[in-house]
Amino acid sequence: MALKKKTIPDFLKMKEEGQKVTWITSYDYLTAKYVERSGMDMILVGDSMGMVQLGYDTTFPVTMDDMIRSCQAVRRGAPNTFIVGDMPYMSYQESDEDAIANAGRFIKESGCDCVKLEGGTELIVERMRAITQAGVAAIGHIGLTPQFMAQIGGYKAQGKSAAAVAKLIDQVKKLEEAGAWAVLIEGVPTIAGKAVHDAVSIPVYGIGAGSQVDGQLIIYADMAGYYDDFTPKFVKRYAEVGKVLQDAFTAYVEEVRNGVFPEDDKHTYKISPEEAAAVEKLMEK
Ligand code: KIV
Repeated sequence: MALKKKTIPDFLKMKEEGQKVTWITSYDYLTAKYVERSGMDMILVGDSMGMVQLGYDTTFPVTMDDMIRSCQAVRRGAPNTFIVGDMPYMSYQESDEDAIANAGRFIKESGCDCVKLEGGTELIVERMRAITQAGVAAIGHIGLTPQFMAQIGGYKAQGKSAAAVAKLIDQVKKLEEAGAWAVLIEGVPTIAGKAVHDAVSIPVYGIGAGSQVDGQLIIYADMAGYYDDFTPKFVKRYAEVGKVLQDAFTAYVEEVRNGVFPEDDKHTYKISPEEAAAVEKLMEK
C-alpha cells in the first residue's frame, strides 16, 4: 500500500506528541525511490547537490534550474514524501520580488512542498516574511550556513559561546515571527541546539545539532559512505556504498579484460538452433 504523504499539520502534531522527524537529502530519482521505501518523513533537495552530484567545491554555483531539475527527479522517485526544496545562493537575497518569484517557481515547476532559506540576518528574515505571506511554506536554516561561508570562516561549528547562542535564539524567534513553519539548526553543540529548540514553539530540526531537537536531517551521501571528499564530525556512517560500487566497477573491468564477462549461456539472447545454423551458413559465405 502506498504511503500517505505527510503534511505540515502532521509535522506539528508529531512535535506535540514528541515524535522525532526523520529527514534526509536526495538529489535524483533512484535515491529518492529507496528513501521513500524506508518510510522517511521528509526529503531535502539540498543545494549540497552542487558538491555531491555536480562536483563543485562549494554550493555557490548552483542555479534555480539545477535545483528544479533535481527536485523534479526526486519527486518522480518519491511521489508520497514531503519534499523541501533548497533555495540556492542569490535566488532570494536580492529582493522580495526575486524571492517570491523563485520560491513560487520551485513549487510550481518541481512539485516540492516547501522551500528552505539559509541565514538569520535581518535581510533573510524579511525575505522569509515575503515568501510566507505570498503563500509559500518555508523553513529557516541557521547556525553553520554554507551560503554564509565567507563570513563564518568556512565549515566551522557555530554557537560555541553564550553570545553566539543568544544570537541564534534571536534569529530563530525572528524567523518564527516572520512565518517560518520550522527551522533547521546546523553544526552547533547539543546545548545550543536545545536552547534554540526551547526558544520557539515551531519545530526545530537539527543536522549536527545534537539530540535535543524535534528531528534529524542527514546528507544521504555522507551517511551511506558514498561522498568521501570529506565527512563532517557529526555524520554516522550506515553503509559503505562507495566501496561497494568501487569493488563492482573494478571487478567488471577485470572480467571484461579477462574474457570472463559476458558468459554466452547467461548474459545474451537466445536464438533457435535452425536460425543459428542459417547464420553460421551466412558467415561461411
Ligand atoms: O544543502 C543541504 O544539503 C543543506 C544541508 C547541509 C542542511 O542545506
